[in-house]
Amino acid sequence: MKQTLFASLSLGETTLRNRIAFAPLTRTRAEPDGTPSALMAEHYAQRASAGLLIAEATAIASDAIAWLGMPGIFSESQVAGWKKVTDAVHAKGGTIFLQIWHPGRATHSLLNSGTRPVAPSPIAITSDEIHTLEGKKPYETPRALEEDEIPDFVNQFKRAAKHAKEANFDGVEIHAANGYLIDQFLQSASNHRQDAYGGSIEKRYRFLDEVVKSVLEVFPAKQIGVRLSPNGNFNDMGSDDYREQFAYTARQLETYDLGYLHVIDGLGFGFHEKGEAMTLEEFRPLYSGVLMGNCGYTKESAEERIEAGHADMIAFGRPFMSNPDLVERFANDWALNPEVDQSQWYGSPSPQGYTDQPTAQEAGIA
Ligand SMILES: Cc1cc2nc3c(=O)[nH]c(=O)nc-3n(C[C@H](O)[C@H](O)[C@H](O)COP(=O)(O)O)c2cc1C
Repeated sequence: MKQTLFASLSLGETTLRNRIAFAPLTRTRAEPDGTPSALMAEHYAQRASAGLLIAEATAIASDAIAWLGMPGIFSESQVAGWKKVTDAVHAKGGTIFLQIWHPGRATHSLLNSGTRPVAPSPIAITSDEIHTLEGKKPYETPRALEEDEIPDFVNQFKRAAKHAKEANFDGVEIHAANGYLIDQFLQSASNHRQDAYGGSIEKRYRFLDEVVKSVLEVFPAKQIGVRLSPNGNFNDMGSDDYREQFAYTARQLETYDLGYLHVIDGLGFGFHEKGEAMTLEEFRPLYSGVLMGNCGYTKESAEERIEAGHADMIAFGRPFMSNPDLVERFANDWALNPEVDQSQWYGSPSPQGYTDQPTAQEAGIA
């Protein structure tokens, strides 16, 4: 049977009310200690009509910070702050997962009390610089993790999942995309190891596999998602063998019968141009579970993918940023608000561009 964007979808015991996901968006509105703010609860609750909300990249450890104002999930106060967010979303009937994240080399010691960034291999990001308390700085060359330290990093994800459960999240999304720690292990561009965690496609996948297994000790499979970015060049990513690596990864993840596999298939945030882009159509035979696409989608292009059976859900980032009632607008073919200006994406605890976006009713177009 052909599905539509507005059909419900079962994720284990949870029924999502539609196939429109709110993509994870870092907006740096947390308190200075990484505790989610009341403003964040308001922001997520405003978007609760999404079938699934995926809360922003959240630091799993105190030395895994990459932006001022980003939230964490490693302290009691952060768990309490997130509980206010999940309560606000649940009160409106929404379902919310937390994106658990470690930046690996994509951070700076100035943001982590002097702790040098870690990565699979000592290769620095050179295509960009990073904002620190002392202004923009080049990325540092990361310290390669010793093999016997890796279980501790796997455990940090498990601990974060435990905390997410305490904060009443409905599940977690493991952030294995966009050039952060797990993606750094997956890809040959950033992983030059020749031990149990590198040197072949199977070994580069191993860190993600161990993270999934450890999170499975906390949440049932259907309450876990994994995000991948096979086509992106952000954070210096893009590997010659990307197609083989991500095809293998999708096939391996399928064996866990997870809630979903989230693939950033669109090219709008940078394409590595190592070959043809990997499409949802290509992932479909590799992954028979719930497949979510993202990046640059409109209502029409999303419906087309879902009706064709190439995806089961589509995540929207920027459209949800400026339209808290995106689902209702899509359902009624109402016009969308203009995009939030980039100057309001990050960097301020301000409600501007965050909780002040009008619904169609408020804008007088409903
Ligand atoms: C301001 C901003 C913050 C983002 N933060 C995250 C994040 O925390 N985690 C993540 O996986 N992707 C993040 N992304 C990527 C989005 O999830 C999404 O892939 C991107 O916006 C493309 O989707 P869209 O075209 O629907 O906006 C971010 C994007 C933007 C614009």
